[in-house]
Amino acid sequence: MKKLLITIDGPAGAGKTTVSRALADRLGYRYIDTGALYRGVALAAQVRGIDPKNDHDLKMLCSGLDLNLVQHADGLGLCLDGEDISDRIRTPEITMLASAISAQPVVREFLLDLQKDLGKEKAAVFEGRDMGTVVFPEADVKFFLDASPGTRARRRYAEQKSKSSQTLDEVERDIQRRDRNDSTRDVAPLKPATDAIVIDSTEMKVDEVVDYMVSQIENQ
Ligand code: DC
Repeated sequence: MKKLLITIDGPAGAGKTTVSRALADRLGYRYIDTGALYRGVALAAQVRGIDPKNDHDLKMLCSGLDLNLVQHADGLGLCLDGEDISDRIRTPEITMLASAISAQPVVREFLLDLQKDLGKEKAAVFEGRDMGTVVFPEADVKFFLDASPGTRARRRYAEQKSKSSQTLDEVERDIQRRDRNDSTRDVAPLKPATDAIVIDSTEMKVDEVVDYMVSQIENQ
């Protein structure tokens, strides 16, 4: 079968990661989590004490950054300068910093080439915010996965409960702030591509979403 490039965009907590992984498994494709790359840049900036609003320092940071997605037995991981940072990029602090840093054009430019390179071989499911609109406007099938704000907050809370002390209210507040940051920034804001298939997963189970996606892919 022809190798396809599939994109899944959407707001935080919509279920993109779970669904993207499951879809990639079903198709025998690679799964690429582009949010992890923004988180990696955020962690590097934090470690080196760089102000996320300082364009010049961010540019210098990116030019020397050795960021690699790596395949672990239990999923995708991220290495920075050879060190595995998969767990360190999942804290609430790095989550908010990644959202702030992702609004900076120098960071988006740096990651654009890296992401395009990863897409060259196709046979991949790319998860992010601007996959269908900016990074891969020519993607074969584009999905935009959404869910109600309350559902997204509850899903995110359940997912990080064992790792974080944040309350449901705090998770909901962070998600609202991130929605605002990610969809109102000037460069590559979160929005569905005009040719994206929009799915509201509020009342859907993971398998139902994946089945629906596979049926849409087979219809292409
Ligand atoms: O998907 P995530 O929660 O790991 O993403 C972290 C942040 O990175 C998110 O708030 C916005 C940013 N991001 C982006 O701007 N573009 C992408 N393609 C992926 C993530």
